[in-house]
Amino acid sequence: MSTSTSTEAGTAPAQAAGRDISDVVIRVEGLRKEYKMGSEVVRALRGVDLTIRRNEYVAVMGPSGSGKSTFMNLIGCLDVPSGGQYWLNGQPVAGMSETALARIRNRELGFVFQSFNLLPRASALDNVALPLIYARVPKKERRERAAAMLEKVGLGARMDHRPNEMSGGQRQRVAIARALVTQPALLLADEPTGALDSRTGEEIMALFGELHTQGQTLMLVTHEADIAAYAQRVLFLKDGVIERDERKRD
Ligand SMILES: Nc1ncnc2c1ncn2[C@@H]1O[C@H](COP(=O)(O)OP(=O)(O)OP(=O)(O)O)[C@@H](O)[C@H]1O
Ligand SMILES: [Mg+2]
Repeated sequence: MSTSTSTEAGTAPAQAAGRDISDVVIRVEGLRKEYKMGSEVVRALRGVDLTIRRNEYVAVMGPSGSGKSTFMNLIGCLDVPSGGQYWLNGQPVAGMSETALARIRNRELGFVFQSFNLLPRASALDNVALPLIYARVPKKERRERAAAMLEKVGLGARMDHRPNEMSGGQRQRVAIARALVTQPALLLADEPTGALDSRTGEEIMALFGELHTQGQTLMLVTHEADIAAYAQRVLFLKDGVIERDERKRD
């Protein structure tokens, strides 16, 4: 940030560069991940360069074992890279302490998983409010924000239901509400429709589409072309590198 406060900021190129930087949510350069398996090393990511700007909707595709989940886990600060650079909202992530990473996961990122990962004994409202406890939001505001988010995903009438009292699609909506309640800079989803029938999956994709229209930045992993077709931009991973990066014209 400090590098962009120049006295010459009035010139056109400097303004353009400033806008450019502020628009970038994700920037990675030469991102690598190796897993040691006994004496062998699995090179899961072999140097990924990528920029994701605000309000982009990106799908990551690729065959099984190509590194999709590994990439998602690194972007989501759930795991640390073996090498390369990563900036989230202009902040360098490499070398951050576990506490700082936990804070970033809570404040900047929202996660949606194939298997929902909800607390089984907690109501939809309590599940959605949970990230706000970690963010130290007062109780009354937590309940209000969680309720508003459940309304937004179409579950206003199901707030007191527990996960086992809801359908798969409704559970995934709760998970999406939970991911969004902290207003994250980036929503990450790994195979979000993988456990749903195709009609319910389409409903969830329609919800992601609405969120995108409202300004959300999204990145989702899928191995289904039908699902990837909802995104604006598709990255194809192969053997730990981005083989293709396709943008749709809309
Ligand atoms: N924890 C781990 N320890 C060792 N190797 C791993 C680990 N996680 C992933 N790998 C290896 O890294 C490579 C990439 O795995 P990854 O899970 O990222 O693939 P993927 O593209 O998500 O596949 P899928 O479509 O099956 O989910 C694979 O060769 C995998 O075996
Ligand atoms: Mg995977």
